[in-house]
Amino acid sequence: MNNPDGQESHFSPDVTYRGKPSATPLVEATAFARESPEELEAIFAGREFGHLYSRLSNPTLAALEQRLTDLEGGIGAATTASGMAAIAATVLTLARAGDSIVTSQELFGGTYSLFSRLLPDYGIESRFLPVRRPKKFSDAIDKNTRMIFVETISNPGLRVADLNALAEIASDYKIPLVVDSTVTTPLLFQPAKEGAGIVIHSTTKFISGHGDAVGGCVVDCGGYSWDKNPHLKENYSEYGELAFLAELRWRGIRTLGANQSPANARLTLRGLKTLGTRIKRHCNNSLRLAKQLRDHPEIKELNYPGLREHPDHELAKKQFNNRYGAILTMKLGTKEKCFKFLNALHLIKNMVNIGDTCSMAIHPASTICRDLDPDEKRAMGVTEDLVRICVGLEDYEELKKEIVEALNKV
Ligand SMILES: Cc1ncc(COP(=O)(O)O)c(C=O)c1O
Repeated sequence: MNNPDGQESHFSPDVTYRGKPSATPLVEATAFARESPEELEAIFAGREFGHLYSRLSNPTLAALEQRLTDLEGGIGAATTASGMAAIAATVLTLARAGDSIVTSQELFGGTYSLFSRLLPDYGIESRFLPVRRPKKFSDAIDKNTRMIFVETISNPGLRVADLNALAEIASDYKIPLVVDSTVTTPLLFQPAKEGAGIVIHSTTKFISGHGDAVGGCVVDCGGYSWDKNPHLKENYSEYGELAFLAELRWRGIRTLGANQSPANARLTLRGLKTLGTRIKRHCNNSLRLAKQLRDHPEIKELNYPGLREHPDHELAKKQFNNRYGAILTMKLGTKEKCFKFLNALHLIKNMVNIGDTCSMAIHPASTICRDLDPDEKRAMGVTEDLVRICVGLEDYEELKKEIVEALNKV
């Protein structure tokens, strides 16, 4: 045997299947051999489609991209290494030095850090506004503004964006509305239907759903004409409605290397098979818990958009089809009480994630929002006495018992 290291074996013929496999195959290959230099040239030049190298594209990633496109009712999608990579790639595709973005101030801490701490170093300004005041967004836009960015339900502030009003403003100024729908998933809401231009997910959360695959995606909803963005005009004449995704793939994925691993994409595809069932249970458990806990004497304030008293309840009800997600927050009076509560939990994990099968709880001010100064935290609705719970799929009675017992120890 002249290839002791198996040098030739990986050029074995393509595996062919009889019948359709019940799960999307994982293509764990770095590169794809072609018949000739002419074929490679044609694919590089964009005259032919084909997979070449898994930083650029890969069959398993393509399968996930198609699935996410269908779920969001879009025209195409790109998967990325994480939710943060999806957000960063989107901004870097739409904006350049000297441009601005207009964004809600109530954001996931990592997104807020990207917008407020990192993008300014590259000449991109972020203008932060309260999501409950859409009119203010309109006042903040100028000729160099390239997008409006919001989260559907902000994490952890739990404020709800009025997508229809914001899409109208974006349309008036001919800029796209970019929506992070991680907390709502395509099951509660499809931002494309309200006029969003782009939907982003951290697929790490509910979409993959089992706490085992970091990933993100960007979906083009198809409603925005990319020739209106000065940086995408040239692409528009070449790629038409796919101008944005073509540029995002070149900038964010091919050049910055923020691609997703095929193994994570396969886990995410597996997770998607049960998204509907899981989301129903996440939402049912959360609403029941919120209703049960709202009058507990140790809770100074309980936030869940599904409760009548939540300031955005009516909007959430209309927009999200009577479902309100899996995150609830509660104020316990002091940071010490929050830590006592968190220390008394066993079934519910002290863990900084959302959207896993298990429930988890954190103190946002000292974890995911730690980088922010006190004014920024306040603007986001993150106080020192706030606990966030992401409700999982456990038995409701067990969850209730655990939370009530922990509250009694505070
Ligand atoms: C709403 C939201 N967007 C984006 C992200 C970032 O996602 P990832 O951790 O996959 O980078 C998170 C993470 O918690 C999030 O909650």
